[in-house]
Amino acid sequence: MIKFDILTIFPEIFNALDESILKKAQEQELINIEVTNIRDYSLDKHCNVDDYPYGGGAGMVMKPGPIFRAVEAVQTDKAKVLFMSPQGKTFDQEMAKKLATKEHLIILCGRYEGIDERIRQELIDEEVSIGDYVLTGGEFPAMVLVDAIARMVPSVLGTKASAIEDSFYNGILDYPHYTRPSVFRSLEVPKVLLSGNHQKIAQWRKKKSLKRTLLRRPDLFKNVELTEGERSILNE
Ligand code: ADE
Repeated sequence: MIKFDILTIFPEIFNALDESILKKAQEQELINIEVTNIRDYSLDKHCNVDDYPYGGGAGMVMKPGPIFRAVEAVQTDKAKVLFMSPQGKTFDQEMAKKLATKEHLIILCGRYEGIDERIRQELIDEEVSIGDYVLTGGEFPAMVLVDAIARMVPSVLGTKASAIEDSFYNGILDYPHYTRPSVFRSLEVPKVLLSGNHQKIAQWRKKKSLKRTLLRRPDLFKNVELTEGERSILNE
């Protein structure tokens, strides 16, 4: 069981996590997702969570008080505190697999121009970006994280979909998939997939994965160890 505590000023956004596979995973108690409204930890009468930046400049900054109190309210010994930000380490499948082994993740979502630096200094274990582009806040990035991590938790995917066969799980891209009908608008399914020869099918899929990776993402080969056979397929 992995627990996600999400801290945000827009809790409703996370209703999207109560659907499909993640909904079932929560019902089966394989994962637990709690969303906390940072505004509930504001002490002033207008429930402010942001203020003007010292030194001037555009935009507002998230105040330390509400965020410190919100983190402290959900904190445990085992918790790892993540902050979603374009300045963080870029999230990838490797990080998803690693984070899926943790018991408790606290994910802080920022808004406005940024957060008071003392939050970073005292509370954050790791800053995580989902890519080199800037969004209006950390809520969608946090959902990307929860989804990618949750599906790496054993039993979450069940038999319907297997993480082991995904693109990136083994470091390279996925092979092409086909379903019925075998001929659609005169487009045929590759014969080998109809042959029933499992060894040939596995070979064909491996070759397609390797060739597709070579064509689209040759950079991925830097991180995978290829066998002699795999290397000779690439040179065909
Ligand atoms: N907040 C805004 N942009 C982001 C990004 N690219 N990754 C993570 N958090 C963000």
